[in-house]
Amino acid sequence: MIRTYQPLFSPEPDAQGYYPICRVAQLAETVLTVKLTGWQLLLLLQEETGQMQVRAYSALCPHQSANLAIGELVSYDGKLCIECPLHQWRFDLRDGKQQYPAENHLQLTRYLTEVRADGKVWVQLGKG
Ligand code: FES
Repeated sequence: MIRTYQPLFSPEPDAQGYYPICRVAQLAETVLTVKLTGWQLLLLLQEETGQMQVRAYSALCPHQSANLAIGELVSYDGKLCIECPLHQWRFDLRDGKQQYPAENHLQLTRYLTEVRADGKVWVQLGKG
């Protein structure tokens, strides 16, 4: 399931360019799409080597810039993928790599994330 979250206020970055985007609890059992001025993001929690990790990607399709936030979540080859609404290309949400079609090797833009002590997910988008 993809849910949309619109922060009430534009978040301010810290000195390293991390923005507080949402609470980690908001990512339970969902992919969250968050629209901010200048960015639209896909955020999700996934297990990696026994630990839950937050992943953040740009929602701009690397093929021809369609909005992946209105795409579909699909299982492809056993992997959770986002399927683009424009040409149905599929990208693995574990690493952002294109899975379908197989002849190209595009990748979603991925951002660094941190879950801080206050329970918020911070995403490094730049210094604003
Ligand atoms: S724009 Fe996304 S697959 Fe073409």
